[in-house]
Amino acid sequence: MADGDLRLDFANLLRPHVSTGIDPERLRGDLAERFRVAHGAVQERRAAGEMGFFDLPYATDTAARVKDLAEGFGQWFHDVVVLGIGGSGLGAISLRDALLGPLWNERSDEERDHFPRLHVVDNPDPVTFGALLRRLDPATTLINVVSKSGSTAETMAQYLVARGWVEDAVGADHAPGHFLFTTDPTKGALRKIAEAEGIPAAPVPENVGGRFSVLSPVGLLPAAICGVDVDALLAGAAGMEARCRSAELMRNPAGILATLLYAADSELSRPIHVLMPYADRLRAAALWFQQLWAESLGKARGLDGARRNTGPTPLASVGATDQHSLLQLFMEGPQDKVILFAAVADAGTDVSIPPLHQEISSLVYLGGKSLGNLLDAERKATAEALRREGRLNATLLFPRVDAATLGQFYILLEIATVYAGALYGVDPLDQPGVELGKVLTYGLMGREGYEAPSLDAGDPRWRV
Ligand code: PA5
Repeated sequence: MADGDLRLDFANLLRPHVSTGIDPERLRGDLAERFRVAHGAVQERRAAGEMGFFDLPYATDTAARVKDLAEGFGQWFHDVVVLGIGGSGLGAISLRDALLGPLWNERSDEERDHFPRLHVVDNPDPVTFGALLRRLDPATTLINVVSKSGSTAETMAQYLVARGWVEDAVGADHAPGHFLFTTDPTKGALRKIAEAEGIPAAPVPENVGGRFSVLSPVGLLPAAICGVDVDALLAGAAGMEARCRSAELMRNPAGILATLLYAADSELSRPIHVLMPYADRLRAAALWFQQLWAESLGKARGLDGARRNTGPTPLASVGATDQHSLLQLFMEGPQDKVILFAAVADAGTDVSIPPLHQEISSLVYLGGKSLGNLLDAERKATAEALRREGRLNATLLFPRVDAATLGQFYILLEIATVYAGALYGVDPLDQPGVELGKVLTYGLMGREGYEAPSLDAGDPRWRV
């Protein structure tokens, strides 16, 4: 482990630090053995070519193509709009917020070093999307449509709207020059359109699912277009992937995280797993984790086909804001949570607090300190307060937030997710539970081959 590496401090998941915690002896005993089996199961699927995300940090050809597309095409535009939902949107949002810094889209061209503004629209809410399109100039806008399947209703509907908007402005002949697709290498509507119209289309490897795709062109392209060092992102991920190879629990940070969260849920009835960064820049990263953990582990059936209805509930939170919202519940509500803090050692910038109003004794302690001091003190105090109340918590320590540490973060949690899948005995790579809703939506929207469902109109007696 080097100085620039992410670290996991998990003392507050263990006894005696937390009275209700896990016995640390078990990390070299039964939990180590359980993890060894889970690790073996993941290795088997990886060797069978099912877990392509492990290889993304080493995909140098892809990185080169992404940089070519970004520098030779994407960076010519003033605005880039990414259309993508779930795993096809959250990665780009979290990359933008963490690495481009606050208020990127509000900054002047010079302040952005002439890189484009970046808008990621995941929800097909007409109010948001309509407002954005009214604000942008189609002549200087690039639309990056991200859909692995090329069939997701939300994204494809937004594409059609954006396509009409661009065509109206620049004409049907020039419209394809404003689009960039990220999709399956061979299949789907976007691939078909790309081939017919010569639209550049970056591939999402066949064996990389949406929520595991942030280090593929799904996340890399928008990041590279806005000047993020994608080589550093991938190098960070490669370093963490190497740290997470061992079958020995104590030598595998992803294994530790997965095994302790699994044990907290299955043995100590702590099924709610909160990711709480003390940094606004990592707020969207917590939402990215929320989707990864929920869609991967919430499953009706186990790998053996037996009904399980299992899965922890992830929750994205942010400090210090949620100290004034959720913390009361975390401290005194049901003992059903694990809080995973994310701390940033060097925020890169700070704001000093001037020693004003020294005549008011309750304000004296703030003067001469900084906002960074306060945020850090609040995180430490909150972790300690939770510990004293027997509330399990751990801390992911970012030495700083940059491309390398973010790359480490993404792959750490992705690897932890597939280990957790093996521990829970579920397939972390599928999402059968979302299919029925999709089919019913198709029916309601009149898609050919799908019947409109007769919906229960509701019983008027039970409405107020
Ligand atoms: O993680 C997943 O697999 C999903 O959240 C998908 O990313 C999401 O449904 C979007 O799918 P697609 O990329 O096919 O449009």
